[in-house]
Amino acid sequence: MSIVEIKDVLKSGNLAQKILELEFIAKIYESRLWRASRAFSLISGIHLRKEMRLIGSFLNLGGDELVLDLACGTGLYSWSFADSCSGRTIIGLDLSLAMLRFASKSAKSANLENIFYLQADSHLLPFKNSTFTAVNCTGALHMFSDPIVVLKEVSRVTKPQGKLSLAVLRGETEFSKKIELVLRKLSCGIKFFREDEILTMLENAGFRPVIIYSKRLWMILGGIKGVQGQGGMY
Ligand SMILES: C[S@@+](CC[C@H](N)C(=O)[O-])C[C@H]1O[C@@H](n2cnc3c(N)ncnc32)[C@H](O)[C@@H]1O
Repeated sequence: MSIVEIKDVLKSGNLAQKILELEFIAKIYESRLWRASRAFSLISGIHLRKEMRLIGSFLNLGGDELVLDLACGTGLYSWSFADSCSGRTIIGLDLSLAMLRFASKSAKSANLENIFYLQADSHLLPFKNSTFTAVNCTGALHMFSDPIVVLKEVSRVTKPQGKLSLAVLRGETEFSKKIELVLRKLSCGIKFFREDEILTMLENAGFRPVIIYSKRLWMILGGIKGVQGQGGMY
């Protein structure tokens, strides 16, 4: 990373997104330095592998679905969905070209031909209504400038009875409030969600929500489109 890049990042209004647009970060993102790190597991209380298992079992994908991995980053989830079934088609969408370049390279080197990557903004999804059987959005809702708009867009592109899986930062504790305050001062553009808040947001977007995991600073949730009523724990 050059000094010019670093200055650019520090000047930016949304520090978190600028960081995720750096090639260097895309390269280390999946490593034990970040998403699969011990520090991440300590903060979230759960290892990435377990998070992936919980989401996999909630989505319970069949053979020939069209799945959207929203804000896919380096394609961790796109990969696992595509690798487990070649008849399934995965669209990985993200704003960061650095992340998408990394994702596309890994899919190519693994000969995964059922993943397609796309650069777009989650607030305005370039898909027709009721396109996807399932949408996954992990580690990203807390970064969006308007998560309510994104959830409505997700609902629009999800088929009736289709599923949504989410992993978000959890803001239930004094500790999380302190971190959120520090991040706000740094103009990081990161929010933490309370359980009741995210459940209501999901319901208002047209999903029946369930909490799959909620501990420390991490929450995993599911939603089924077009079914009313709050779901509670999964
Ligand atoms: C922390 S990463 C999560 C990546 C991946 N989903 C995972 O679980 O590891 C957050 C991703 O959200 C993307 N992102 C942030 N804002 C976005 C937006 N408005 N539209 C699409 N992607 C966005 C970032 O570029 C980044 O790749």
